[in-house]
Amino acid sequence: MTGGNGAAPGTSAGRAAFPAGTLESIAREVGTPTYVYSASVLTAAARRWIEAAGDPARVYFAAKANTNLGVLSTLEATGVGIEVATPGERARAVAAGFPPTRILVGGVPKAAADVRDAIGAGLALVVLQADHEVEAAIEAARPQVPTRVGIRVRPGITAGAHPSLETGRVDAKFGYAPEEVPAIWKRLAATDGLEPEVLAVHLGSGIDALDPWERALDVLLDLVDRLADTGAPVRELDVGGGLGVDYGADGDPDPAALVRRVDARLAGSGLASRFEPGRSITARSGVLLTRVLYRRERGGAPAIVCDAGFTDFGRYALYGAQHRIEPVHGPAASGAATVDVLGPTCESGDVLGTGRPLHDVRPGDLLIVRDVGAYGFVMASNYNSRPRPAEVLLSEGDFSVVRGRETLQDLWRGEVTV
Ligand code: LLP
Repeated sequence: MTGGNGAAPGTSAGRAAFPAGTLESIAREVGTPTYVYSASVLTAAARRWIEAAGDPARVYFAAKANTNLGVLSTLEATGVGIEVATPGERARAVAAGFPPTRILVGGVPKAAADVRDAIGAGLALVVLQADHEVEAAIEAARPQVPTRVGIRVRPGITAGAHPSLETGRVDAKFGYAPEEVPAIWKRLAATDGLEPEVLAVHLGSGIDALDPWERALDVLLDLVDRLADTGAPVRELDVGGGLGVDYGADGDPDPAALVRRVDARLAGSGLASRFEPGRSITARSGVLLTRVLYRRERGGAPAIVCDAGFTDFGRYALYGAQHRIEPVHGPAASGAATVDVLGPTCESGDVLGTGRPLHDVRPGDLLIVRDVGAYGFVMASNYNSRPRPAEVLLSEGDFSVVRGRETLQDLWRGEVTV
């Protein structure tokens, strides 16, 4: 199921979108570490999904992957919608130009107040996944402004690139077991101002085979039958996000293959469907630019220490994810001697990647950590009172700073001495 042709964001065209000269200028003018995004890679990835789905209204970008306003406004212009998990993500979506009708509140844990706030706000859909959310929706329902709601189902399927990324398991904290759904559906259907129409799942993240979705559709379609005589038939399935990215190479799973599989299962059912891709839209669009500070031996094994660490990019520390790390001028020949790539903070777990063919790099050299446009900056922290990196967007040969580097004063904003 690997895919992509020369123009697809999953291919080495992605590397060409970050010319060495431009990266060097950015390092000089903006400094390091800096996240650098390519508008053309971003747009191509969104268009690939839109083309696969045949309609931008079926594609809701999962904002949690990247909430930079420059990135979001670039995606907004492609016509996709946006899935938000929190009031903060919703506010960013609005600031980036998404109209409420293209904003979906996702089936993630929410405070009752946040559900009440989303009901009657003219949003595309609000997905509920726990009793207090259902109660809040019923309480806030307004017959004058009916709200389309969905229920997140926990289908009991194990899928995802790491145990922390498996969200559809029988013991996951998200959503309702299938047998719990009918009673809740009937309550929603009996509430003036709520229109239950959607069953939603999100199976996990970093999935590179289609089989988990097949099994989820078995569960969902069975529920559709069971809800048929409630007076509020299911109209749509939201199959979530989760399509993986091949961080070690260029062969990504193809969104079109997933869409075809879902469409084939729903053919003739009258059911619509939608997708919530995060990683597969933004991952390839970003690199993290970092400078080598020094080299050292660790028990006889060579390592390099960079000015970016796990506070800037945490995916190796959290999930053992091995992103490609390369000099800005391009990767060393395969077979070259390898080093571990470490960050500068005061923990041994501060690692960006291991076993990289970067033996020949020297202090002062510039490197990029590739495919960090999803779950990169959004998971950065200020640990060790390190200002978070700048973010830069490349567009038509030019670059603009879409988020300035934090200053030292930013670090204690809102704090007071006593
Ligand atoms: N929809 C829902 C309800 C979700 O919870 C998520 C991701 C998505 C869509 C988008 O999934 P994607 O297509 O990006 O896999 N920090 C982790 C990823 C956590 C994803 C959580 N939910 C990482 O760095 O891999």
